[in-house]
Amino acid sequence: MQLVFASRNPDKIAELRDALNNLPLEIRSAAEFPGVPEVDETGTTLEANALLKARAVHRATHCLCLADDTGLEVEALGGAPGVHSARFGGREQSYEKNLAKLLEALRGVPEAQRGARFRTVVATVFPDGAEVVVEGVCAGRILSQRRGSGGFGYDPVFCFPEAGKTFAEMSLAEKQRISHRGHAMRKARVILEEWLRTSGKR
Ligand code: IMP
Repeated sequence: MQLVFASRNPDKIAELRDALNNLPLEIRSAAEFPGVPEVDETGTTLEANALLKARAVHRATHCLCLADDTGLEVEALGGAPGVHSARFGGREQSYEKNLAKLLEALRGVPEAQRGARFRTVVATVFPDGAEVVVEGVCAGRILSQRRGSGGFGYDPVFCFPEAGKTFAEMSLAEKQRISHRGHAMRKARVILEEWLRTSGKR
């Protein structure tokens, strides 16, 4: 059984392969299907965008399809940048500009008010069109300075208090155990396992 992931990002595809390892699923990228259009993420929520992407791939392939969307929700900013996380610093999607804008927006905000969470929504569309949406959350704090050199995006300023480290100070395996995307992917795995079991594909 093929599972088409609505992403052209090789790092994300590798992560998904890891999360779904040992399932009888052949993970394919949407990039391998010429009929799949680029999807504009015009939704106003992570859920809407994940569903937009998964439905577009399903329309073009009729396969089992999966899509994810992630946002950083900062308490002191009323939940921003949220669904706009990728372009917070400008249209060109620069991690560095996003980070600089976040630090500037939180300048002078005291430690106690720097709570934030990453949230990932994963949407699955089954071959018959049925849909399931799950989410994974990781709560932490936004530091006032960058720490660490690993990861990507907002990782250098996102501190996971239980570990006393930023995501950028963790190995990929350590981050995946606790991260929003890790939690969401594990929930999606449970749903896929159940579907494979009940639909007799295993
Ligand atoms: P996407 O929906 O996974 O493309 O994520 C949207 C944006 O959120 C990315 O462009 C990053 O800026 C940010 N982001 C997503 N996941 C992470 C993460 O694990 N660490 C840091 N930033 C992230």
